[in-house]
Amino acid sequence: MTDSHKPTDAHKPTDAHKPTDAHKPTEAPELTIRDLTVRFAGVTALDGVGFTVRPGTVHALVGPNGAGKSTCFNVLSGVVRASDGSVRLGRRELTGLPPHRIAALGVARTFQNLALSPRLDVADNLMLGRHRLTRTGIAAAGLRLPSARQEEARHRARVREIAEFVGIADHLATPCGLLPYGVRKRVELARALCLEPRVLLLDEPAAGMNGTERHALTGTLRAARTSLGLSILLVEHDMGLVGRIADEVTVLDFGRRIATGTPAQIRRDPAVVRAYLGVSERRAG
Ligand SMILES: Nc1ncnc2c1ncn2[C@@H]1O[C@H](COP(=O)(O)OP(=O)(O)OP(=O)(O)O)[C@@H](O)[C@H]1O
Ligand SMILES: [Mg+2]
Repeated sequence: MTDSHKPTDAHKPTDAHKPTDAHKPTEAPELTIRDLTVRFAGVTALDGVGFTVRPGTVHALVGPNGAGKSTCFNVLSGVVRASDGSVRLGRRELTGLPPHRIAALGVARTFQNLALSPRLDVADNLMLGRHRLTRTGIAAAGLRLPSARQEEARHRARVREIAEFVGIADHLATPCGLLPYGVRKRVELARALCLEPRVLLLDEPAAGMNGTERHALTGTLRAARTSLGLSILLVEHDMGLVGRIADEVTVLDFGRRIATGTPAQIRRDPAVVRAYLGVSERRAG
């Protein structure tokens, strides 16, 4: 393990993330998913799924492989169109909106497979995450007008704050492609936070991380919820992590919702136990 892998104090949320007046946490609106159905040719990936992510909570979406978790995220972020049903952020209907409009309403996501530009350094990848917040026109930026320079400096300062919050400030000048996997996962999280979201959708943020990195991530996500006032919808296979961080859990199996409850309720729900047992039986067979 090199120094760059080692979690340092930088992982611990510092004062740097404390919301300033410009970044006051706003109460996240409720995210309500109702009767969501997605059909691909021959496959019903989601079948009448409904659940609610309450403001300022962490809601985990779990289930065996192919249960429909990523498809659900793809609908929430506008990448995939629902065949039926609705997704509302507060009173706003999100289904049918393109991804950039959904992002502009404050819904940010990370992908199951990393989606960073490997040649750009971390700072520039994070600046891309702030794109929707950029006011200066392209012409002013191109001409390097003072207003554009000031705005860029403000964004760069906020990028540094967020990088410190997520524990990647030491890597700001490193091209993403050169970073170890666990650090890149945190860069993805930081990029989503750079959008100043009200709702954060995280698809397997701890996948491929070691125990120490998972522990650090848990702390960061808790702090994000508390100090930034975010709601978080989290897809995660690590049930230990889900139990430590989630307020509520929704379980999908074969595209259907089979349970919603607290982590403790979910662990003893017979339908959930059967679904996961079914997986181990399928694997054993
Ligand atoms: N673009 C697509 N075209 C056709 N079928 C798809 C498409 N995307 C997903 N599916 C199918 O929909 C179902 C749900 O897939 P999805 O990726 O949402 O599952 P998941 O719960 O995220 O699984 P994993 O835990 O493996 O990531 C699967 O049967 C999958 O093969
Ligand atoms: Mg998936």
